Amino acid sequence: MSGAPDPAAVRARHADGPFLRACRGEAHDTVPVWFMRQAGRALAEYREVRARHSFEEVIHTPELAAEVTLQPIRRYGVDAAILFSDIVTPLAGLGIGVTIEPGVGPVVAEPVRRMEDLVRLRRLEPEEDLPYVLQTVDLLVAELAVPLIGFAGAPFTLASYLVEGGPSRSYTHTKALMFQDELTWHRLMDLLAGVTLASLRAQVEHGAAAVQLFDSWAGALSPADYERFVLPHTQRIMEGLEDLDVPRIHFGVATGELLGLMASAGADVVGVDWRVPLDEGRRRIPVGVGFQGNLEPAVCLAPWETVVARVRDVLARAGARHDHVFNLGHGVLPPTDPGVLAQIVDLVHEEGEVRDPAEVRAEDAAHA
Ligand code: CP3
Repeated sequence: MSGAPDPAAVRARHADGPFLRACRGEAHDTVPVWFMRQAGRALAEYREVRARHSFEEVIHTPELAAEVTLQPIRRYGVDAAILFSDIVTPLAGLGIGVTIEPGVGPVVAEPVRRMEDLVRLRRLEPEEDLPYVLQTVDLLVAELAVPLIGFAGAPFTLASYLVEGGPSRSYTHTKALMFQDELTWHRLMDLLAGVTLASLRAQVEHGAAAVQLFDSWAGALSPADYERFVLPHTQRIMEGLEDLDVPRIHFGVATGELLGLMASAGADVVGVDWRVPLDEGRRRIPVGVGFQGNLEPAVCLAPWETVVARVRDVLARAGARHDHVFNLGHGVLPPTDPGVLAQIVDLVHEEGEVRDPAEVRAEDAAHA
């Protein structure tokens, strides 16, 4: 770690910014905003890097990964950066044959479907298995003027790629394993939770100021199945991060029915996708836990008047609460005009008011 910045000092530098203050439920004066998938194909400068280097090359080269992380910071004026990597990067670091096919997503050559297959999932040693990721974090925290969000895939979402062998609509193989062989299922989830926890802890130890756990595909499950097959593992990850004292954001798509359970896993902030009106999403998340979201990503493709109306609607539903982080309801779509995202950031900063936390808490108590 020689030459690497002191992570505690890095976090202290950003502690007073609106993003971390909102995540912790502290007073601040502008609504913080960042975008999931803010780095990537919407940016010409990203496509330029990708014209010369494969996706894997970018992730494995700290200077390139840091550069594409910084691209949206320069363009948009967002309040947080998110590390450029992928949820399957730790699995690739373990030597599981997983590649990212452009336009498709992660593809696993030999899916994991039986107890015997689990020997391929050993313990992750981040310093040895993912040195390039941690070097990227080191480069970024030395340079960034905003906090860096570290991230990882949650066990269910990772399992969905490992068991299906690639992206899926129905998660048939994944659910079949879950219902047919509960012992193997929990063993797989436990191994993945260990990988995710080790990866997140290492990112924070290198200076990430917050983490987001992506359980992107958990919305495929009913609340009862989520509670039985997923929640204990996610809880273990959240608890395993507690001593690091950084905000833990927990996000998934189509999770309207799971928001309360996702908070109960131990999140400090729960991400809400665009299907749930944000005021309704807020009601489903316990008091004391923050919320993030939730502009429909495709709205960014609409005429500007529509964008403005929909951003204002999200802000109105967020109720000027001190524990709201503005974001899209899922990732930036590749055809998005970066200029629109920059204008959205300005609009949120100009119009997003933040009330006194004491006032909001009194209101919450009155409604309890
Ligand atoms: O800007 C950021 O948000 C940081 C970088 C980031 C990427 N992937 C880069 C990426 C993050 C946080 C992720 C997380 C990720 N990866 C998730 C969770 C977020 C979500 O969308 O729900 C998931 C499910 C994956 C798996 C994955 N990787 C998919 C579905 C894809 C897209 C396939 C495609 O090409 O459309 C990827 C590839 C990927 N990850 C790209 C980027 C920029 C595109 C790669 C390219 O072609 O350049």
